[in-house]
Amino acid sequence: MGRIITIVSGKGGVGKTSLTANLGVALAQAGLKILLVDADVAMANLSLILGMQSSPITLHDVLLGESTINDAVYDGPGGVFFVPSGLSLEAYRRVDSERLESVIKSIQEKYDFILIDAPAGIEKNVMAAIAAAEETIIITTPDSPSVADAIKIKLVAQRLGVNPIGVIINFVRNEKGEIKTQDITKLLELPVLGTIPEDLEIRRSFMQENALPMILHKPSCPASNAIRKIAEKLAGKNIEAGEEKKPGFFEKLFTRFKKK
Ligand SMILES: Nc1ncnc2c1ncn2[C@@H]1O[C@H](COP(=O)(O)OP(=O)(O)OP(=O)(O)O)[C@@H](O)[C@H]1O
Ligand SMILES: [Mg+2]
Repeated sequence: MGRIITIVSGKGGVGKTSLTANLGVALAQAGLKILLVDADVAMANLSLILGMQSSPITLHDVLLGESTINDAVYDGPGGVFFVPSGLSLEAYRRVDSERLESVIKSIQEKYDFILIDAPAGIEKNVMAAIAAAEETIIITTPDSPSVADAIKIKLVAQRLGVNPIGVIINFVRNEKGEIKTQDITKLLELPVLGTIPEDLEIRRSFMQENALPMILHKPSCPASNAIRKIAEKLAGKNIEAGEEKKPGFFEKLFTRFKKK
């Protein structure tokens, strides 16, 4: 049985989607079978970070009972598999996110890890994304509003019976005034799985014409190295940094969303 882990934060914009994509690719580079699920049913953007632009069948169709989950799984970059969320607001309004748990658990045995990208906040779709998992990883930045929201989301996960396994501190600049790693460990009463520096390459990698997750585009930049270390902890083995990839013809084929 694979591990199902939801990536959560409480506060928005702290890097959940970027980390889901890059951690997923790093785990796939460890030879594991990885499924990434965009459970941000209102503001889907994991596809953009993966460099995949169109998707005939999405999680919306699955949650509406109009398609099976297997029909919504696509080949993504770096060997990951991927379930996109839909962009239609009309479908979003009708989506029953409570079905997510049974949908995800129905394919659990096919993968080593299923990483679910959750929306921010603590509203119903966030709860559904957490409840679909058995474990959560909490993302925070090293400042008090973000850590305060991380504490809230940890409590939400525990109430839902989902195990918070640790924290990732993102956007670290090592500036005066940042909350220190050991203080975040104490405040959250959770181990810190890793710290990721603020690194422009994260944004650059999806702002170019043919987007690719940073870890494929710049495998040896500081944020990629930090993410690989976290993936090594989760995978329990070393992962080689791959060759730097320039998104060319081959990657453009990926962006056409080749069906599995
Ligand atoms: N370590 C980092 N260094 C620099 N920029 C980063 C870093 N991590 C994420 N970013 C950038 O921050 C922005 C927000 O990241 P992302 O979309 O992954 O956050 P999120 O938590 O998923 O947001 P939301 O709550 O809206 O879903 C993006 O532009 C991303 O490129
Ligand atoms: Mg996001």
